[in-house]
Order: sequence, then structure tokens, then C-alpha cells
Amino acid sequence: MNILTFDTEEQLNEAGAGVLSGMVQMNPSAILGLATGGTPIGIYEQLVQTYKRGLVSFNKVTTFNLDEYVGITPEHHQSYSYYMRQHLFNQVDINIEQAYVPCGTATDLEEECVRYDRLIENTGQIDIQLLGLGHNGHIGFNEPSHALLSGTHIVELAEATKTANARYFSAEEEVPQKAITMGVGMILKAKNILLVVKGEDKAEIVKRALTGPISTNCPASLLQTHPHLTVLLDRAAGSLL
Ligand code: GLP
Repeated sequence: MNILTFDTEEQLNEAGAGVLSGMVQMNPSAILGLATGGTPIGIYEQLVQTYKRGLVSFNKVTTFNLDEYVGITPEHHQSYSYYMRQHLFNQVDINIEQAYVPCGTATDLEEECVRYDRLIENTGQIDIQLLGLGHNGHIGFNEPSHALLSGTHIVELAEATKTANARYFSAEEEVPQKAITMGVGMILKAKNILLVVKGEDKAEIVKRALTGPISTNCPASLLQTHPHLTVLLDRAAGSLL
């Protein structure tokens, strides 16, 4: 495990974008696993700058997003599909046909899970999976539980996650109850994992995830088993290590 701690958010974002763009510069057809949430926004901003400066092209890249809310259309401004178009896809030369986000409004959600896993497996191994970290240790939407699933599946969101996400919705009843998420098995199959965490409010969970016991009660702790894990932290998130 390689842990890098940065003094400023700008440095962290530049480092994160540098890892992703470096991957694409070395392999223009790279397969990227992407994440949403507040944490990676600055990284995507930097990545767009790198593209605009002519240093990288995404036109042969394939991307797979980790998760999506159930019941929210891709056009909804809080959907992860919308987020990805806003922060990255619409601003770079990516082929949108190769930028996949699971569909949370599929008529048959179980079938959508199977389709998504098959799509990833038929495309190839994800070269690098970007991850944020939930306050309760979730990765993607794999919530703490006595057992975790390997493949893409539907999850009931934990109360803590709904509370954390409520800030993005205008009314409490609008906050989705369920999500579709890549499973931990698929996440761990990626060749490289880039975990990014910011803020003092995540210091405790960073410590648990990276140095605590490996347990399904803290899904991110399973990342300790990955042979190529890089962690980017700001000083506050890394303060308890
Ligand atoms: C969300 C997402 C995760 C994300 C996490 C942290 O619910 N499903 O992929 O990493 O929670 O979000 P944030 O970066 O906004 O703290």
C-alpha cells in the first residue's frame, strides 16, 4: 500500500489527475473505473485541464462507474450519470458510448446487474479503479454488513449514507433508498486502486479502513488485501495514521 499525504487540496487533486492521465498516456485504450461524490470533483477538474492543454486524449478510453441511485433517471440532476457528464464526459473527447454508468431505472434491475458485470468482463480488466470513502467505510455503495457481495447488485442504503446524501436533494422524501453498485469482488479485480479521501471528518474511518481489522463491517478495509493500492489523503484525513 502506497499512502501519499498532501498539504493542500490542489496538490492532492493534481496528483490524482496525474495518476489517471498518466495511465491513459501510457495506454490510450485504458479501462478506467470511476467514482462520484464530492471527493473526486477536483480531480476531474484537473483532468479536464490536462485534456484542454492537449496532454491527454480520452477518445479510446472505456469507463465504468461504480454505482447509481435506483429510481433516478440519467437526466435527473442528482443522478451519477448526470454528474459524470457534467464533471468529465461532456468536457473531454471521450466516446460517450464507451462511458458506462449502471442504469438505476432499468425495468429489470437484477438483469441490469448481470448485464453490467458481463459488460465489464467482456471489455477486460479495469486498469485503475478510483474510489472515495463513505463515513461508515462504504466503497461504491457497498455498505457495512455481515456479508458482502462480489458482483453488481442492488443495495438498501444505510441511514448514515442517506443522511450524508440528503444535502444534495431538496426534500428528504426525494433521497433515494436504494442504489445499484459494483460489488467488492469486481472492485478488487481492478489492476490498480486509487483511494482518495479528504477532510478531518474522515480521519477516523481512514484509520479503521487502512490499519484496522479486515472486516465486512468496514468494506474499505478489504482494500488492504489489494496488491496495488494507492491512497491519496489530505493532512486532515491522514491525521490519525
Ligand atoms: C457516496 C458514493 C461513494 C462515495 C462516498 C463518499 O455515497 N456512493 O462512491 O465515495 O459516498 O462521498 P463524498 O466524496 O461526497 O464524501
